[in-house]
This record gives sequence, C-alpha cells and structure tokens, in this order.
Amino acid sequence: MKKLEIIIRTSKLNSVKAALETLGVHGMTIIEVKGYGRQRGHKEVYRGATLESQFVPKTQINILVHDEGLKSVLDAAIAAAQTGELGDGKIAILPVEDVIRIRTGERGDTAL
Ligand SMILES: Nc1ncnc2c1ncn2[C@@H]1O[C@H](COP(=O)(O)OP(=O)(O)OP(=O)(O)O)[C@@H](O)[C@H]1O
Ligand SMILES: [Mg+2]
Repeated sequence: MKKLEIIIRTSKLNSVKAALETLGVHGMTIIEVKGYGRQRGHKEVYRGATLESQFVPKTQINILVHDEGLKSVLDAAIAAAQTGELGDGKIAILPVEDVIRIRTGERGDTAL
C-alpha cells in the first residue's frame, strides 16, 4: 500500500478528483497548502537575480492506494493535472505500514 501526496494547481482539483473517481478511488483527503518549487514562487528566475521566495497557494490531495492500482492512479492524476507550464505540481509516493478502519478495526488492504 502507498500514500500519495499530490500537490496540484487548485484550479485542477475538480478534474483530478473526477479522474480518480473514475478509477474507483473511494477516499481522499484535501488540504489547502502553500509552497514553492524551483522557481521559488516566481514565474521566471533571472540569472544572478536575488529573489525572495514566495508561497503560492496549491491544493494537496492525499490518497491511500493498493499497490496494484498505483500506476493507473498516477497516470490519471498526471494527465488531469498537467498543463506543461511551470508550477504544475509534484507527487510524493510513500510506503504505508498499515491502515486501520476505526469503525471495524479492519487493517491493511481491507481497511481502504
Ligand atoms: N522540493 C519540494 N519539497 C516540498 N514541496 C515541494 C517541492 N517542490 C515543489 N513542492 C510543492 O509543489 C508545489 C508546486 O511545485 P512546482 O510544480 O513549481 O515544482 P517544480 O519542481 O518547480 O516544477 P516546475 O519546474 O514544473 O515548476 C510547490 O508550490 C510546493 O508546494
Ligand atoms: Mg516550479
């Protein structure tokens, strides 16, 4: 099992959500975040110029996925979130030791 931390443009949330639901993803957590990447929150970084880093609002989607579904979820999220412009976002893939459904105490893959 993996946890995906998918940071996207907030304007892409609905299309990414729809794409993931088509694949049968039935749970996700959304966090409004602020951050910056290589351009430090600026559209361009000029050589030699010293620019203060700026936090840009983004949306983070956290999803727990079965290992078998990982590739299709990644492909769908990327296709739905990509514009090709700077700042499209980033996906971190983390191993998950265990998951517990609190209501029933189920663990592991059956708890998703
Ligand atoms: N190294 C990082 N660590 C943590 N969060 C990051 C990192 N890089 C990017 N992010 C997060 O992802 C958001 C989008 O980053 P962004 O898409 O600009 O990455 P990038 O590596 O600069 O890619 P690009 O060159 O396409 O802009 C940032 O606002 C920040 O929230
Ligand atoms: Mg960037």
